Amino acid sequence: MSALSALHQRVCQCRNCPLGQADGVREDGSAFYHVPGEGPENARLMIVGEAPGAEEERTGRPFVGRSGRLLTEILAAAGLEREEIFITSVCKCRPPKNRTPLKTEIAACLPWLAAQFEAIRPRLVLAVGNVPSQTLLGVKTGINGLRGRFHQFTWNGRTMTLRPLFHPAYLLRNPRRVEGSPWDKMLRDLVEARRFLA
Ligand code: URA
Repeated sequence: MSALSALHQRVCQCRNCPLGQADGVREDGSAFYHVPGEGPENARLMIVGEAPGAEEERTGRPFVGRSGRLLTEILAAAGLEREEIFITSVCKCRPPKNRTPLKTEIAACLPWLAAQFEAIRPRLVLAVGNVPSQTLLGVKTGINGLRGRFHQFTWNGRTMTLRPLFHPAYLLRNPRRVEGSPWDKMLRDLVEARRFLA
């Protein structure tokens, strides 16, 4: 078993915070799965989201709901293959009613992300939305003030490059694809990311 698979088995047993539950089917018939992340262990690009939503919780896979499908589409439009990217989130469990994760929940989950950085050593990290961008950069600035450029951040002594992105849920709420639209800006960020890796 690879180091990453072993790590993900441990993630799936995590009870570090109240969001973690036993994987399986609940009494009401709904499914609960931890969502450790997926993608190649040698990925050069890593996407870090906020936390799983309902569809992710049900399937145990990251970014497979409406936002995830839009993310896959815009990645392809920028010439990036989803299959070549390691995709995960700051929190590996779904907060109730998709609320923003609490600081305590983020802190409890961050050691898993640190271990993923260590295992994958990505060349570039794409932070999807406010929560991962602010968490990894250690700032309170909103995504509008962060996106559009590369940042450096240091984690456990390792300096990595990060590009903040809009969350695809924001694009779903603002669906126009004209010049200057959220789609257009996010596409430009992704094209820059592809060029960075070239
Ligand atoms: N948003 C995230 O941050 N992660 C997912 O897996 C889905 C939506």
